[in-house]
Amino acid sequence: MNDVIKNAVDILSPLCGGNCKIGLILGSGLGGYAEKIENKRFVNYNELPGFPQSRVEGHKGRFVIGELFGKTVICMQGRFHYYEGYSQSQIALPVRVMKRLGVEKILLTNAAGGVNPDFSPGDLMLISDHINFSGSHPLIGENDESFGPRFPDQSNVYDRDLRAGIREAAKVAGVKLQEGVYMMFSGPTFETPAEIVFARTVGASAVGMSTVPEAIAAAHCGIKTIGISLITNMAAGILDQTLSHDEVQETAATSSVKFMKLVDQIIKTVL
Ligand code: HPA
Repeated sequence: MNDVIKNAVDILSPLCGGNCKIGLILGSGLGGYAEKIENKRFVNYNELPGFPQSRVEGHKGRFVIGELFGKTVICMQGRFHYYEGYSQSQIALPVRVMKRLGVEKILLTNAAGGVNPDFSPGDLMLISDHINFSGSHPLIGENDESFGPRFPDQSNVYDRDLRAGIREAAKVAGVKLQEGVYMMFSGPTFETPAEIVFARTVGASAVGMSTVPEAIAAAHCGIKTIGISLITNMAAGILDQTLSHDEVQETAATSSVKFMKLVDQIIKTVL
């Protein structure tokens, strides 16, 4: 694992210009935001020895490095999912690469199902906390103390101060922002209606199949973390409907203008 990280850092570092402090991970249907990056430098995951490959429709598989509002960013256009068969430590690997490249703050985005009945498809939700219900954990195995401690605190995974900044950024951008707890299921099935009743009962506002492994790894190594979910659908059993990945991607596409406006403002004033 350390060799994979080192090789990736050796390849990516010359493209980062020594001043890349912002990481972005773009979720299902949200990868288009990377097109806004100026002076783009691309590295496909398959150019990085031992790196996992992204296989989900709607996900490209590459790093995009460049500038946004005068700041250098490194962006994952396409991420890795537990349901693809990767271990969660593999899913967390790009976050550790970012850490070694000097990233200090990371914005994680995803598509999610709304559990809070006050939410509507197309809403954006600032993640206040998470429930790791995936059945695994990215820090299982030998701990690398150079990243962080064996038993990390999880009281402030989604940085409180950055969250306050993001609420302000949403106001400035004129974008309505919900806030709540993201609960990770492994997928690849969507949840059953009974599982969604359970999720709501234990305090979830939204459910999805990603983000938690990356957030845990980022917080572990001291990267300040922010998460934003695009609610692409109401979760199973809330409305009379069937769920599909096509619907997730369609809602992501129709809400992308709003999403981009918010992320622009976050990069300008918060990250
Ligand atoms: N469940 C899990 N993941 C999702 C959903 C959902 O309803 N919508 C988008 N990603």
